Amino acid sequence: MTAFETLLALRAAAQAEGIPTLRDKTFSRLIKEVRARGAERILEIGAAVGISGAAMLLAAENARLVTIEKRAEYADRARKTFRALSLDGRAEVLEGDADEIVPLLSGGYDFILLDGPKGKYLSYLPHLKALLKTGGALFADNVSLREYGLKHTERRNRTAKQNMEAFCAAVFFDGDFSAQRYEEEDGVLLAEKIR
Ligand SMILES: C[S@@+](CC[C@H](N)C(=O)[O-])C[C@H]1O[C@@H](n2cnc3c(N)ncnc32)[C@H](O)[C@@H]1O
Repeated sequence: MTAFETLLALRAAAQAEGIPTLRDKTFSRLIKEVRARGAERILEIGAAVGISGAAMLLAAENARLVTIEKRAEYADRARKTFRALSLDGRAEVLEGDADEIVPLLSGGYDFILLDGPKGKYLSYLPHLKALLKTGGALFADNVSLREYGLKHTERRNRTAKQNMEAFCAAVFFDGDFSAQRYEEEDGVLLAEKIR
């Protein structure tokens, strides 16, 4: 079994358990982007059990990953995922709340996967922009929040959607970014920092 086949088996097992992970087309788009960009320093907000993180490391063999996860059991399992794929030397799992961790990070990243708490994208944006190198890319999942309302009250759903639209608008109207939005699955915003 290749490492990628092992990853796909771990992904299928996680999906069968109801653990959140990128949907198929978004997963493929992520791999394609990371590979094409030859990313070397990757940041991820929202590791879950490490499936997208491992995919990025397999797609970019020189990359190192920092990934943040609030749930202790997911963070542990993400570490196991990286070990199972011999990627643990290139992956660092920061266990805790991204609200507290993101403002403390430093250094330039050339790829950021934003897949954490959906109501917080806008508040993370200034930090993520500062952490992103010129030429680097921000890949934000779930910007259309199509399934969000299934789990929450109508009011919370509306607020989350407004926050997310404000996040997308902030990226699109920021002249330092060149952004594109893909409506497939739950919506992806891909923004390159051009200056
Ligand atoms: C959609 S899942 C991530 C899926 C993962 N990127 C993948 O594709 O395999 C979102 C994750 O963000 C985590 N999360 C939610 N709020 C968080 C916060 N404030 N800080 C850090 N992680 C958080 C959740 O526990 C969950 O595991």
